[in-house]
Amino acid sequence: EDAKKGGFAHYMLKEIFEQPQAFYETIRAGISDAVQEMIRDAEEITLVACGTSYHTALIFKYLAEPLCRIPVRVELGSEFKYYPPPLRGLVIAVTQSGETADTIAALKMAKAHNCPTLAITNVQGSTVTRIADTTLMMRAGPEISVAATKSYIAQLAALMEIVNVRCDGKYDDLLQHAHLAIGEVLLQEMQGAVALCREAEHVFFVGRGPFYPVSMEGALKMKEISYVHAEGYAAGELKHGPFALLTPETPVVAICPPGSTYGVMISNIKEMKARRAPIIALGKKGDTELAEIVDIFIPIPDSDPMVQVLTTSVALQLLSYHTACALARDVDKPRNLAKSVTVE
Ligand code: G6P
Repeated sequence: EDAKKGGFAHYMLKEIFEQPQAFYETIRAGISDAVQEMIRDAEEITLVACGTSYHTALIFKYLAEPLCRIPVRVELGSEFKYYPPPLRGLVIAVTQSGETADTIAALKMAKAHNCPTLAITNVQGSTVTRIADTTLMMRAGPEISVAATKSYIAQLAALMEIVNVRCDGKYDDLLQHAHLAIGEVLLQEMQGAVALCREAEHVFFVGRGPFYPVSMEGALKMKEISYVHAEGYAAGELKHGPFALLTPETPVVAICPPGSTYGVMISNIKEMKARRAPIIALGKKGDTELAEIVDIFIPIPDSDPMVQVLTTSVALQLLSYHTACALARDVDKPRNLAKSVTVE
């Protein structure tokens, strides 16, 4: 068992460190002509997914709609079956295992309505690959830890490739090199942030645009493995309710990279500080303006927003991982959870 962990304390940490490779291999494998054609022909796209895969699907929506001007809908597998949206356009099932019952049920419905279907999965020959018209394989390699990490990053690689196909290869270079930025974050220390989170009853994660689903994923990871209650919120929405919960004991993790929402994020952070919540901020390395107004500053390499989605996600995985370790949780096998949920 220890040998399989390759010197890491947990599979989760090993898999976090395998992410540059998982991303790079998925990009390197490319997209088949059949899948490219399907993507180019699509007039709208619906993604169905559960859990962490639902968050990668939401990130795709935030990237694809403004960059490729294509309407994207994202549905939870568990809701789709009972409250189906209009079934038209390309339907993509996003599932690491390829075996999640709710996602499979949604995919079957899409097929029954004659929608073109694509599966994005990490497991060759899994159930979704047998149902969907075509498959786009992620190249994460087997993931042992219950919490999804490298499969999340490989899913983002596959979804970013779809964006790239729709943008006629505009992001070729960026995607070829993104794994280097992911690698830069792996050794980021988290002590100060962990000290705040491990004592907390609630932690909020906030971001805007694609960093909103990144914050949802950060919160999910925190709940899954450390059992600290966490919620991911669109930064501008905290004032519509959660502000009532902010106290000096309620840390807020704010994702605040450079870009169009930087200024408004800074004002949100100031509002939260005024409610005396400790702020842990993820921002561009060397951003002293941000570092000075927050309690803990976590530097992220300066890069394109698409790459920042990856680097901030990895930093949040590390935050949850180290918090879970500090609380002596069973990191690889969190209570009550399964790697793959094959019942509806
Ligand atoms: C389970 C796992 C999650 C995963 C979800 C969807 O709940 O614990 O980590 O995100 O299933 O899994 P899938 O294989 O469909 O991506």
